[in-house]
Amino acid sequence: MKKLSMVLIMLVAIGSLGFAKGGQQGGGSSSQPALVGIAMPETHVQRWQKDGANLKAAVEKLGYRAEVAYGDADQNRQNQQLQNFLTNGAKLLIVGNINDGVNSAIADAAQDKVAVIAYDRLIMNSADYDYYITFNNFKVGQFQGQGLETGLKLKEASSDAPKYITLFAGSPTDNNAKFFFDGAMSVLNPYIKSGVLRVIGPYPETSADNANFQRIATENWQAPVAKTRMENLLNNDAANVVLDGVLAPNDTLARAIIEACLADAKYADGKLPVVTGQDAEADSVLSIKNGQQYMTVFKDTAKLAEAAVLLADQIIKGQDPAIPGTTLASGDIASIGDTGKKRVKAYLLEPVIIIQDNWQIPLDAGHFTPEEAARLK
Ligand code: BGC
Repeated sequence: MKKLSMVLIMLVAIGSLGFAKGGQQGGGSSSQPALVGIAMPETHVQRWQKDGANLKAAVEKLGYRAEVAYGDADQNRQNQQLQNFLTNGAKLLIVGNINDGVNSAIADAAQDKVAVIAYDRLIMNSADYDYYITFNNFKVGQFQGQGLETGLKLKEASSDAPKYITLFAGSPTDNNAKFFFDGAMSVLNPYIKSGVLRVIGPYPETSADNANFQRIATENWQAPVAKTRMENLLNNDAANVVLDGVLAPNDTLARAIIEACLADAKYADGKLPVVTGQDAEADSVLSIKNGQQYMTVFKDTAKLAEAAVLLADQIIKGQDPAIPGTTLASGDIASIGDTGKKRVKAYLLEPVIIIQDNWQIPLDAGHFTPEEAARLK
């Protein structure tokens, strides 16, 4: 019995040491570890549920308290959630925003001296925060462009027998969508200029052509919006050609586009166009393995969450952040941290291109739930 109580006393002591490491030293009241508020934009794109869970676990591992909220692609709703975090005394907010309507909540956080980390998506048109952590989003787009380049054998193709593609972009309210698109077009534009590649439907050369970019963008990354646009294209602009490829900005939209194609006799039975993606969602990796979707981009969001929480910890402790596994955006992509009102420090992780040959990479990295992993085996 005596032995047991000694063990218990030791365990309690070790436990409180754990708190002192993060939460309590981190500026929380003496009775409670500090609170970190985690606001994720949506659940209809699967990755965010993983991000929310990963962030919460990483925050708690460092001895802080965590609250997670999902905004359902509704910025007013997310602002309410952010206000709740502030009311609950949060020391720091990790925010994956929906659109720049988030600014009023970020301004309130700044007024309360609560630090904000823009997570994955830059918070635009705000000067009220200092840190952003994400992947090299231009490179994500370059990988998508390279997917079409390889899948359509563009290097060997000639303008006598051009390949036909159509272009989709992500949400016009998500700054990432522009980086993905511009990265992809940096690979594709030379082929379009030489006539090897022909674009069916609107062709913004870059996202700076706002009028045409809006026409190919997909409000709030909603799959039904992309599916309807693809059906309309197939029945109109693309009615008299066979599409060889589709630039799709993420997996959720790629699968919607593939669904629309499969309902069209021209593309059924193994005749799908080369369709790109992003996020290495289980359904898309399975589709790649089975030869339907052509590629995706794996962004190890568990690593992103871990790095974001390390950044949070160092900010709360007043340290100058040093985040292993990331590089600070500079040179050509320094603008990745440009909100329009300020250049914030942008920490970047590296994405990985996934095709049929290396589909196992996200599986080996532990990216999938046990149920998803079982479906992939
Ligand atoms: C993220 C992507 C995601 C998309 C839709 C982007 O901001 O970077 O990973 O697919 O939002 O949720």
